[in-house]
Amino acid sequence: MLLKVLLLAFLVATVRSATECMSRTFDYEAVCVCNATHCDTIDPIVEVPQGQYVSYTSNLEGLRFEREVENFLTTGNSNAHVIDHSVTYQTIVGFGGAFTDATGINFNILDEQTREHLIRSYFSDEGLEYSLCRVPIGGTDFSTRSYSYLDTSYPDIEMENFRLQAEDYSYKIPYILQALELTNGKLQFFASAWTAPAWMKTNEAQDGDGDLKREYWQLWVDYFVKFFDSYKAEGIEFWGLTTGNEPSLAFFSWTGINSVGWLPWIQNKWIARHLGPTIRSSDYSHLKLISHDDQRILLPFVFNLLSDETAKSYLDGIAVHWYWNDFVPASWHSNIHDLYPDKFFINTEACKGDRPWDSAVHLGSWDRGEQYAVDIIENLQHWSVGWVDWNMALNTTGGPSYISNEVDSPIIVNPETGEFYKQPMFYAIGHYSKFIIRDSVRVDLPFKQNNVLTAAFDRPDGATVIVAINSEDSETEINIRDPNRGYISKVLTPKSFNTIIYW
Ligand SMILES: *[C@@H]1O[C@H](CO)[C@@H](O)[C@H](O)[C@H]1NC(C)=O
Ligand SMILES: *[C@@H]1O[C@H](CO)[C@@H](O)[C@H](O)[C@H]1NC(C)=O
Repeated sequence: MLLKVLLLAFLVATVRSATECMSRTFDYEAVCVCNATHCDTIDPIVEVPQGQYVSYTSNLEGLRFEREVENFLTTGNSNAHVIDHSVTYQTIVGFGGAFTDATGINFNILDEQTREHLIRSYFSDEGLEYSLCRVPIGGTDFSTRSYSYLDTSYPDIEMENFRLQAEDYSYKIPYILQALELTNGKLQFFASAWTAPAWMKTNEAQDGDGDLKREYWQLWVDYFVKFFDSYKAEGIEFWGLTTGNEPSLAFFSWTGINSVGWLPWIQNKWIARHLGPTIRSSDYSHLKLISHDDQRILLPFVFNLLSDETAKSYLDGIAVHWYWNDFVPASWHSNIHDLYPDKFFINTEACKGDRPWDSAVHLGSWDRGEQYAVDIIENLQHWSVGWVDWNMALNTTGGPSYISNEVDSPIIVNPETGEFYKQPMFYAIGHYSKFIIRDSVRVDLPFKQNNVLTAAFDRPDGATVIVAINSEDSETEINIRDPNRGYISKVLTPKSFNTIIYW
């Protein structure tokens, strides 16, 4: 007992207090500005006694992870929504972003102290504590050129010229290692390839309408294994592998995005005969094999994909991207989950500013932050085990992208001032990533209360987390009853992201 008191006293004494957001308003709403000597941090999550809960609030008015300790009430509203810990759903894997070349290029623009602030903002315990990140195998549309690891002018079927590229060493590996260190090795990764070497593709080009030549179906998997070997040699191991980024891109070849086209009823043969057997008998047999990695609107293709029983037996999960989600509800995930309950759902890419009629970067846009917050909670309410953003940093015009496919990012680097800006999207992800740690389990709580979206999770350390998103322009009250604790009655500020945690 004495030890516990001493330990608690020590913990309280060592609690850092958060550094304030240095707010600046641009065309939309406010961003938090970080430079070499100043960057906002988040109050650490410290256990409070039973009977109390901690709430963190970010809102349009300017609060950023504002911490407040409140008491459970013994009596409350009879309409309170009840958390049922005995009804459990998916187990969470993580939240994060992608180590694209553009991300590393923008990290590199900053001086050392400012860059340190940026990386800490995403990965440290005074930041968002990202837990799951995507690593492209080779280049993407957010590179300064299109490339693979085997860009020979002839079919190098022995893969003698397979090499990681300058981009891996300058933009990805150093930052992945730094992020691993900041998370004490807990950060996990999954890999996705955009394009194969042009000579492996039917159209002999890295973009455009081309798929994999039949004779290279096995070589393409051996290429993945070589990638994992090369990253392992650098000290980086992976949790998962997707079957390839957006195979539908080949059919929208006017986008100019590098890709390997697949039709699902052809891809499943490749998975069954090559990808599955090779990965499962390799040093990387533990990898989660994740299919689709494409838009939610194309999810009906999953039926074709999983119609091959062998392919189905090799696949662990289904990855979805958020573009065009406005046309299809997240309930599609639940429909598919009911048919294939042993395949997890995961969100592997999202960004705003992707529509041709909308400009790339909206500095300070609360609306874009809210779209992130709403999309994340809707997916979590429908079986998603994780939500991974796209570029972690872009410049003020939303690049670089060699095909000028500029978009927005939660962190925008200003090359002219050497500062970076944390947008509302950054805080939106943090309301989940920082609190819903790996192996948390979603527990039953109705999705919506007075137009506030809600979801609840039991963490492996015994804490419970509730996220509540208020998109209304007005204060909105929520009433929640935890049968083990009592009532939470809380007035949420207008346009706010709220996370509640208790032990
Ligand atoms: C960083 O921002 C703070 C707060 O506005 C300011 O006082 C400081 O001078 C800035 N530091 C640099 C290196 O620009
Ligand atoms: C952002 O990156 C793109 C591509 O490198 C470049 O053309 C553009 O000038 C950059 N924007 C700024 C503000 O530096």
